[in-house]
Amino acid sequence: MEQDVKILAIESSCDETAAAVVVNGREVRSSIISSQVEEHRKYGGVVPEIASRRHCENICWVVEGAMKEAGMDFSDLDAIAVTYAPGLIGALLVGVNYAKGLSLATAKPLIPTHHLRSHIAANYIAHPELEPPFLCIVASGGHSHIIEVLDYTTFRVIGRTRDDAAGEAFDKAARAMGFPYPGGIFIDQAAQRGNPHAYPLPHPRVDGSPFDFSFSGLKTAVLNTLNHAAQKGEEINRDDLCASFQQTVCDLIASKLMMAAEETGHKKIVFAGGVSANSGLRARLTDECKKRGYSFYVPPLSLCGDNAAMVGAQGYYEYKAGNIAGLDLNAVASMGIDQ
Ligand code: KG4
Ligand code: ZN
Repeated sequence: MEQDVKILAIESSCDETAAAVVVNGREVRSSIISSQVEEHRKYGGVVPEIASRRHCENICWVVEGAMKEAGMDFSDLDAIAVTYAPGLIGALLVGVNYAKGLSLATAKPLIPTHHLRSHIAANYIAHPELEPPFLCIVASGGHSHIIEVLDYTTFRVIGRTRDDAAGEAFDKAARAMGFPYPGGIFIDQAAQRGNPHAYPLPHPRVDGSPFDFSFSGLKTAVLNTLNHAAQKGEEINRDDLCASFQQTVCDLIASKLMMAAEETGHKKIVFAGGVSANSGLRARLTDECKKRGYSFYVPPLSLCGDNAAMVGAQGYYEYKAGNIAGLDLNAVASMGIDQ
C-alpha cells in the first residue's frame, strides 16, 4: 500500500492569508483562512501594500493554527506547497519566502503551485470521484478562462476574457450601484429579488476565438443605465438591474461554455474560482449540463473563494508529477495556467 502524502499548503496571492494540511490531495485535515476584506473594503478594493503587510503579520499564526488543527508537527509532513503565481507580487512573496524558510528548516520539498490550478483542484476535494480529463470554466476576480484539463498538470486554455474578468465586472458594476467591495455577492443577493428582464443589457460580440469573453461592455452598459436614469431623474430598481446584469453574465458564460463542450466533446464540466459561488451561475450551469446529459461539478461555497486547502489538493498532483522547486523559487505576478 502506498504511503499517505501529507502536504502543508500556503496561500497569500491576494487578500487572504491561508494555510491547510491536506492528505493525498483530497482529504482536508485542517484549513485556516485569515481574511483582510474588511480593511480593504474601506478603500473600495485591495490595497497591495496593506495586503503584503497583513500577510507578513498573520502568516506564522495561520500556519501554526493549521498544524495544530491537523494534530501534526512539521516532521509529519511530506512537502510544503505554496502559491507562487499569479497574484499581487508583494502578497505572493510573503507566502513564497515563508515556505522557502520552512522548507530549508525542515528539509521538506517545496512545491510551487499555480493559483488557478488550485481553484480547479478545489473540486477534487469536493468530488472524490472527479478525475481529468474535463472542461473547466475558471472565473475569479482576475481571470476568466475556459480550459481543457487534460490531466492533473496539463492544461489547454481555449477561451479567455478580452478585457475584464467576470469577478471584476461583478465588482465594478456593484460599485457603480453603491455596494461595498467586493460586490459580487451583493449583486447575487439582490438579483434573487429582482426581475432579470427589466433592463435589457447587450451581449457583446467578441472577435477572435469563439470561446473568448468580453465583460467590460456589460459593465459600461450598467453604468450607462445608471447615468441615463440619473439625468432624467428616474429611479433605478437596483434589484432588477442586478438581476438583469447577472442574467446576462449567465447567458454569456453558459453559451460559450456549452459551445466549447460541444466542440471539444467533453461531457464532464467543472466550475471554479470565486465567481463559482454565484447562485445564478451555479443554477444555470447545472441546468444546461443536465439538459445535455453532462456531469457538472462545482465546489461548495466554502471552497470557492481563496483558501489553502485547494493549494494542498493541486500541490499533491504537482508533487506526484515531480514539480519540486529549489530555494531560488520566486513569485510571479502573471503566469498562464499552461506555463
Ligand atoms: O477567486 P477569488 O476569491 O479571488 C481571486 O483569485 O480573484 O475571486 C474573487 C471574486 C471577486 O470578484 C468576487 O466579487 C467574486 O469572486 N465573487 C462573486 C460571488 N462571490 C465572490 N461573484 C459573483 N457572485 C458571488 N456570489
Ligand atoms: Zn482566487
